[in-house]
Amino acid sequence: MIQKLQDVGELALQQIKFSQDLESLEKVRISILGKKGALSEVLKGVGAIPASDRPQIGGMANEWKKRIEESLESRKQQLEQIWLAQKVQTERIDITAPSRCLHRGSLHLVTQTTQRIIQILSRIGFDVTLGPEVETDYFNFEAVNIQADHPARDMQDTFFLSPGIVLRTHTSSVQMRAMRAQKAPIRILCPGAVYRCDNDATHSPMFHQIEGLWVDRGVRMSDLKGTLLYWAKELFGSSTQIRFRPSYFPFVEPGAEVDVSCFQCRVKVSPLCRVCKGSGWLEVLGAGMVHPRLFEMAGYSQDDEVRGFAFGVGVERIAMLLYQVPDLRLLYQGDLRFLSQFK
Ligand code: PHE
Repeated sequence: MIQKLQDVGELALQQIKFSQDLESLEKVRISILGKKGALSEVLKGVGAIPASDRPQIGGMANEWKKRIEESLESRKQQLEQIWLAQKVQTERIDITAPSRCLHRGSLHLVTQTTQRIIQILSRIGFDVTLGPEVETDYFNFEAVNIQADHPARDMQDTFFLSPGIVLRTHTSSVQMRAMRAQKAPIRILCPGAVYRCDNDATHSPMFHQIEGLWVDRGVRMSDLKGTLLYWAKELFGSSTQIRFRPSYFPFVEPGAEVDVSCFQCRVKVSPLCRVCKGSGWLEVLGAGMVHPRLFEMAGYSQDDEVRGFAFGVGVERIAMLLYQVPDLRLLYQGDLRFLSQFK
């Protein structure tokens, strides 16, 4: 038994000494110290020897085990050093090699346009407020004076999620939320997605609007015009003009559709202009003075002279005008050849 131990031990030390890499060293370790390794095999014979000899054999076995482990460890360190040195030799990094082209993403055109519009209006005191896209029938319709029989509620336009719950059809749904949440003065912008059951080259079931709402004592229609003129000049160029065409939205009175003069044929209207189709004007938003009924519903007292104006602008429409995008659907197809033009 003693002889066997010695043989196994000495052979092991030899094997360790001559192993050439970490992998073969590990194999050697398993073949000696592993469960079925040579040392364990020898020790299986311990049962067959007289009990009085066992402590001596056990001591020897431990001694050998320790020596083998130490030798394994020091060989391992040596081999690691060698491995590292080889790696340093062979894996040189050529820091002068040209780099691969990195593709950087950019903000989507709709996001860029939203930010631009907000940035312009924030300079005259508008703050951004957000509202939910899943909205109650109440805030989307009733609270903005759209009665139950109004055609906008028609199943064909509105996505109903469950009775009384819709995907908001416009950002005007934040008007009442804002007026309930705070008293005048209010000067907010609400950007976000809106949903309508519509789909063609200029309509998509989901698009983006930015609602503007300014409520304060003595706010007048001229404030609305001044605000929108400033905004239009900043966005489309300093020579831009605006015009109001009377229109109807249940939540404003009076209401208007607002056009800006065509920024493409700015000097002389061209009948061939691709942007305005020769009309000289571009319709860009809906606006008006907040309907007195809304103040009533929001619980404002009638004698504190609070007035307000609101406007709603379609972001995709503005982006398409500014960049002459021919089809709205291009904005949502995720085609990098299209999107990367707007970095
Ligand atoms: N909510 C209207 C729409 O979606 C736009 C609008 C907003 C009109 C505010 C007037 C005032 O068409």
